[in-house]
Amino acid sequence: MSKEEVDRYIYEVGSGVIDASVFQAGYFQKHHMRTSVAAHTLNVAQSSVYLGRFLEHLGVRVNMHDLVLASLCHDLGIVGRYAKYANNRECCNRHPLDSEALAKKLIPDADDVVLNSIACHMWPIGPTGHPSHIEGFIVTLADKYSSVKDLVKPNGWDRWRKPVTGSSTTRQNAGATA
Ligand SMILES: [Fe+2]
Ligand SMILES: [Fe+2]
Repeated sequence: MSKEEVDRYIYEVGSGVIDASVFQAGYFQKHHMRTSVAAHTLNVAQSSVYLGRFLEHLGVRVNMHDLVLASLCHDLGIVGRYAKYANNRECCNRHPLDSEALAKKLIPDADDVVLNSIACHMWPIGPTGHPSHIEGFIVTLADKYSSVKDLVKPNGWDRWRKPVTGSSTTRQNAGATA
């Protein structure tokens, strides 16, 4: 899959999350010093798709749909962190569960693959333990990779604030005004 095809797939699956106000607010929340929460989660989704496809080629069954949703939601709890958490430690421990709670609102039919993968994405750090599904391990790995990449070679704060599909007025408006 080309980068454009991956982006299109991510938006196809995750438009309900991406267009949500909390995700769009994530473009204004600094993350990993050189990027935004929204751009970071898109990077994680992209890395997750590549890793998921690679594992599928090896014969591993991966729920790509849930993988994308979990990736897009995994750090949404960080939006508004300075008003919500007393310090970085509290943010580190609580944001996965706050992200899970937001995912339940944004995706009412989210299953355990999505929710557990979000709740456990900080593993081996934090109180939630390791993921229960392969998709959760993929998100965890993609998150670590993207976090390092954000620091050394960031894609910027506003990745995807311009439309990538050309098919969604909402998307274009969000890109223009977020
Ligand atoms: Fe996180
Ligand atoms: Fe993250």
